[in-house]
Amino acid sequence: MPAFEIYENKNQAVRDAYSMLAANIQISNKKQRQQMIAVTSCNPLEGKTTLAINLSIALAKAGFRTLLIDADMRKPEKAKRLYQNVQEGLSNFLSGGTELEAAIVKTSIKNFSYLSSGRQDPNPIALLSSPNFDAMIAELRKKQDYDYIVFDTPALLSVADGALVASKGDSALLVAKMGRTRMSDLKRIKDQLERMDVNILGVVLNKVKKLEYKLHYRFYDYFYDAQHFYKKEALERKESLNRNESILS
Ligand SMILES: Nc1ncnc2c1ncn2[C@@H]1O[C@H](COP(=O)(O)OP(=O)(O)OP(=O)(O)O)[C@@H](O)[C@H]1O
Ligand SMILES: [Mg+2]
Repeated sequence: MPAFEIYENKNQAVRDAYSMLAANIQISNKKQRQQMIAVTSCNPLEGKTTLAINLSIALAKAGFRTLLIDADMRKPEKAKRLYQNVQEGLSNFLSGGTELEAAIVKTSIKNFSYLSSGRQDPNPIALLSSPNFDAMIAELRKKQDYDYIVFDTPALLSVADGALVASKGDSALLVAKMGRTRMSDLKRIKDQLERMDVNILGVVLNKVKKLEYKLHYRFYDYFYDAQHFYKKEALERKESLNRNESILS
């Protein structure tokens, strides 16, 4: 079967930012062998899918066996970023139509596998609450075929899908859009997830303009120089983890 084609972002600075994020996630994940991360945000169009895809690529490129699961079953297949005529995916598996293994595709990037959302489903909440979803999580945990499993989900203030996924996995990574996501909304979803005992890995600030980045963050220069950043990062790690932010262009 031909590999599912995945294209990396052409911008080196952007790729570096995703690598930095992958490195920070790795630092925060010393104890576990495998981690299931739900990527979510308050509102639509804040950059969840972009982040989920690029984070998965960065983790795979760093040598981690990574599975990206598109758990947004609400969009028609044609609206999907990685739509490539994948016939079966998560919704088909959850409704009993296919085996999990058969629906997971290998991609053109080493260590990066992908499970599409499958056909659009009118009731994703029912599928994500079904025993089949629990069985899938249990199977993935038992097999340990992947070091990281990244779930792309819909916006949390719109629908409960992301919360359901996060509560079954290990942690949530929140995306906030600079100049658009309200702090009060961010706090609402943080509280909602914490009430469900979800570990929040951090908030990724998306669409930061270079000038704003420079004004807000001292180590702006390292954004362009990953090697240099890693050296400095060891010194700044404590502060950076406390701040719990990662910056993407
Ligand atoms: N850092 C970025 N810089 C520039 N454009 C971006 C960035 N992140 C996302 N976008 C663009 O913004 C749009 C929405 O992004 P994306 O689909 O990732 O958001 P989403 O949160 O997954 O949306 P939805 O809630 O509909 O699933 C896309 O056109 C994407 O290409
Ligand atoms: Mg999306």
